[in-house]
Amino acid sequence: MELDELIARLDLPTKIRLLTGAGMWSLPPIPEIGLDRLVMSDGPIGVRGEQWTSADPSIALPSPTALAATWDVELVRRAGALLAQEARRKGVHVLLAPTINLHRSPLGGRHFECFSEDPYLTGEIGAAYVEGVQEGGVATTPKHFVANDFETDRFTVDVRVDEKTLREVYLRPFERVVRAGAWGLMTAYNAVNGTTMTEHSALVNGVLKDEWGFDGLVVSDWTAVRSTEAAALGGTDVAMPGPFGPWGDKLEAAVREGRVPESVVDDKVRRVLRLAQRTGALGGGEDRPVPGPIDGPIDGPIDGLALAREVAARGFTLLTNDGVLPLRDVRTLALIGSAAGEARVMGGGSAQVFPDRIVSPLAGLSALEGVEVRHAVGTDPRIRLAPLACPVVAQFLAAGGGLLAEHPLAAAEARWVGQLPPDVDGERLGAVRLRAAYTPGTSGRHELSVAGVGAFTVTVNGETVLDATIEPEGGDPAAAFLSPPERRFAVEMAAGESYELSVTHPAGAFGGMAFVAYTLGHADPAPGADELIAEAVRVAADSDVAVVVASTTPEVESEGFDRETLALPGRQDELIRAVAAANPRTVVVVNAGSPVEMPWADEVAAVLLTWFPGQEAGSALADVLSGRAEPGGRLPTTWPATLADAPVTDVTPVDGAVAYDEGAFIGYRAWERSGRVPAFWFGHGLGYTTWSYDSIAAEGATVTVALTNTGDRFGREVVQIYLCRGADRRLAGFDVVEAGPGETVITTVFLPDSAFQVWEDGWRTVEGEYTLQASHHVADPRLSITVKI
Ligand code: BGC
Repeated sequence: MELDELIARLDLPTKIRLLTGAGMWSLPPIPEIGLDRLVMSDGPIGVRGEQWTSADPSIALPSPTALAATWDVELVRRAGALLAQEARRKGVHVLLAPTINLHRSPLGGRHFECFSEDPYLTGEIGAAYVEGVQEGGVATTPKHFVANDFETDRFTVDVRVDEKTLREVYLRPFERVVRAGAWGLMTAYNAVNGTTMTEHSALVNGVLKDEWGFDGLVVSDWTAVRSTEAAALGGTDVAMPGPFGPWGDKLEAAVREGRVPESVVDDKVRRVLRLAQRTGALGGGEDRPVPGPIDGPIDGPIDGLALAREVAARGFTLLTNDGVLPLRDVRTLALIGSAAGEARVMGGGSAQVFPDRIVSPLAGLSALEGVEVRHAVGTDPRIRLAPLACPVVAQFLAAGGGLLAEHPLAAAEARWVGQLPPDVDGERLGAVRLRAAYTPGTSGRHELSVAGVGAFTVTVNGETVLDATIEPEGGDPAAAFLSPPERRFAVEMAAGESYELSVTHPAGAFGGMAFVAYTLGHADPAPGADELIAEAVRVAADSDVAVVVASTTPEVESEGFDRETLALPGRQDELIRAVAAANPRTVVVVNAGSPVEMPWADEVAAVLLTWFPGQEAGSALADVLSGRAEPGGRLPTTWPATLADAPVTDVTPVDGAVAYDEGAFIGYRAWERSGRVPAFWFGHGLGYTTWSYDSIAAEGATVTVALTNTGDRFGREVVQIYLCRGADRRLAGFDVVEAGPGETVITTVFLPDSAFQVWEDGWRTVEGEYTLQASHHVADPRLSITVKI
């Protein structure tokens, strides 16, 4: 049936009900027209589903920056297909991803969640992601439209940016994914040039819907709709979450009083129904392009663990290597760092998912045959303790006493935000208790902590060890969840004995929605900080090779706040220098989602960047260090030596605004203009073989490059095509090639029309002569040719 016929069958209150969430993650069903509940989920490294807990596990892929570091659209498309499979498994119709804001500044708190500093690379990777997911019958919502490139005061900040910059840089990736056919899109929290994005008619109705012809659904970021008329008229179609909020009855009144035309409501409803039709949530119409219902059988299931491992290795970026890698003749390997034992596999915030296993570097490298791995923590940079890892049961207790439900968890982390487990009646809920059965491996003073806001009672074997109320810090309501305060205490425990720990916390609500979020943290008894470093140095000195895993921490990289420094937290720089002094074969593995300063980079044998590598981190690391796989990554962002060198660092609003005064000059274009040299250029990354670039030819915008693998093993190279005119140089195309030793390959790259266009109150193609460079990275051209357009 035509969508308009369905809309005609709905009365105004029903139509309006469809435009606000029925809860945290879904729109209400309308059985009379065959519309199912439409379920949404974050995104982007996995599909979390409707619960924020380990009770509902998901495959965790590497972070989006790692995905972009592969420069491989086919691989990204396969990752998208896996995400669609995961979404269908969990009954999710809409994946709230990908994040296609730009790496404007290395300080951006969600840098790890965005692809790149370059609009073209972001657009290509974003389009492949969108196509991969949607080919599996699941919608995407590229986000956050637009200029949400930092976190400070994100709900209110006004980004001041001129039209040319907006068009040529920040809107570009959005235009690309819309033209690739995205079925949804998410508006941002921030304002652009004085108008908050959920009300920005010029950009949402004007540019997105009218000019680009977007026929999909515009969903708000969570709680971003703050007005009735302005947001309804401004182009946002659905206000999430709900059922409370500024639409509902107020929007109905606005329509009845003629302040919002009913046709505007109908257009929004049409977009919801169109998306429902596309994802199989609307009564089996013949128009549905994707066969099978959302919860139907999955054709040819993709092996999620194998793909997570493959993508991780392909994104690993080798920055320096004096020949120590791949490892040869290694019998003893010192593996150093707290992140070696507990890998940081993802960044914090709404991107969090809960894999049902994580392969740490320690586990991954220990599986290498013939290598004895010796682990030393060296130093632990985390500010908060890690969740106690042991069998845990979450008990939902009724207000008047009695047990409502129990759910097993893999770690002592309580997270029910906006949605309680289906078998828990929120009206009757009084408290949530975590009960952990823990058997320590070490005797002594164990450090415990509670991180969260509100009242907590902690018992060990029935005895109360903490009874306290933790007050929130700062004014950001999301901080209680994303960056909660922590209270620590110590308990003597004996190795091998079993302890019953419990934390009881009154159930909370925030804006009328369930809000249960706290962690029982734990750390084993440990020697002093100096002794830990000394021990690591001893182990390194005694081993054939040392691998130090250095990482950022959840307090450093997360949604909700920006970074203040690029320094590795804690004493990690000191640890690396001490280990490198003790063993010349020291490899540093940088486990961070975005740039960190590496003052020791010249003092170590190799630096390998693993980003946030996803759940199969350790297996992929073993593959790459041993040479079973080549590190496939190339930097999708320029890596500064120090924060002081970085060209754009301004992320703090002044009088409520951040001005993008640098215009289009972000990333490598800013570095090139400033004349400064970064630690590593955009596009840099080493493999395990060498290449000669043999010849280049071009006909119009079609470029052909021949190159030969001059090394002695199979390898992969990312051929990058830059377009130069005057002093300006921009990425305009790329391709991944593979070849065996001695083999020559030819690649043909098609440069898009947009590469030759500039914005001057409309797109204008700039005719004339251009130099095309075939490069290993932006500042390393190997061949060039002049073309006339
Ligand atoms: C984030 C979005 C996310 C949403 C739902 C917001 O705070 O900015 O990216 O999709 O929450 O979790």
